[in-house]
Amino acid sequence: MPKRPPPRNVAGATDRRIDKLLGLLADNATVVVSGAKIARQVGVSRSAVWRWVGTLRGLGVKIKGHPKTGYQLETVPDILVPELLQPRLKGTQFGRRIHHFFKTDSTNSVALRLAADNEPHGTLVVAEEQTAGRGRLGRAWHSEKTSGLYLSIILRPEFTPTKSGLAPQQAPLLTLTAGLAARDAVVGVTGLAVDLRWPNDLLAGGRKFCGILTEMQAEAQRIHYVVVGIGVNVNHAKLPAELEPIATSLRLATGRGVSRLELLASLLASFDRYYNQLLREGSAPLIARFTEVSSYAQGKRVRVVAPRETITGVTEGLDSTGTLLVRRDDGQLVPVLAGDVTEV
Ligand code: BTN
Repeated sequence: MPKRPPPRNVAGATDRRIDKLLGLLADNATVVVSGAKIARQVGVSRSAVWRWVGTLRGLGVKIKGHPKTGYQLETVPDILVPELLQPRLKGTQFGRRIHHFFKTDSTNSVALRLAADNEPHGTLVVAEEQTAGRGRLGRAWHSEKTSGLYLSIILRPEFTPTKSGLAPQQAPLLTLTAGLAARDAVVGVTGLAVDLRWPNDLLAGGRKFCGILTEMQAEAQRIHYVVVGIGVNVNHAKLPAELEPIATSLRLATGRGVSRLELLASLLASFDRYYNQLLREGSAPLIARFTEVSSYAQGKRVRVVAPRETITGVTEGLDSTGTLLVRRDDGQLVPVLAGDVTEV
């Protein structure tokens, strides 16, 4: 097999040497590491080390010390740099290429640009902060610095002799896959009771804390690539006033902080399993699982504000492409491809 080229340095992405510095401190967590040793091993000047320690402190990483005494981590850092994330993704199809940003406009926009430029399947784009995070239906996604997960995954679900691949009309199944993966991770890490509101919202106590934005480049018969963007409100202590009535964070819902690294690793491990199962066995197990854990899939009275009409009725499950079926009040069964669903 031809050797894969190393990840390129994308404009604005985190300098891999900062990443290395953090990895070095994490590997030597119990000792003070001298500035000279860090500078030598990372390959920069001691003043650059001092500057980067400042950058990391600005992101909430607790580092004791200064250039004369050396440096030591006070706590395990919860920053999503490849050096800390990659070892937690072993055995999955993700994590061979991770592009990390301290700040970017939107991880989905970055991932779409990279995918158009042939970035391979399984590449991750992760940010600590987004300045123009995008939600469904043209909405914005609130992306406070180091409080949430802001992640995009590049997928190329191709037909091969051994795998069934996905047709463009099946792409919505990837939104369900991501929702289930995020749900399993949150339940596993926090123990919270989590509901899934079709197609892509994760709710705790009726309030949304996670959303998924799936974007695709395809022709009639073939998907070129899909970008699945996942946003999770993790450690937000407060949300903007306009979101407070409808949104929450895991910290607000559980009363304690949650490790973003642990949550992200668990989400990607879960995504890996659901994705492989989808390509191996088709959509039936995924739809069955969604129906099992989502109170919205079946028997829920809902209003659906779809692009061209508003429907009121009772949900009657999902078809094999992930389309929601709603029995309208006039008795007709209507397939819903997209729209905002609310309980009525
Ligand atoms: C929604 O519920 O409306 C979808 C929200 C998706 C937000 C995520 S955050 C990471 C990725 N980058 C973006 O700009 N959007 C998605």
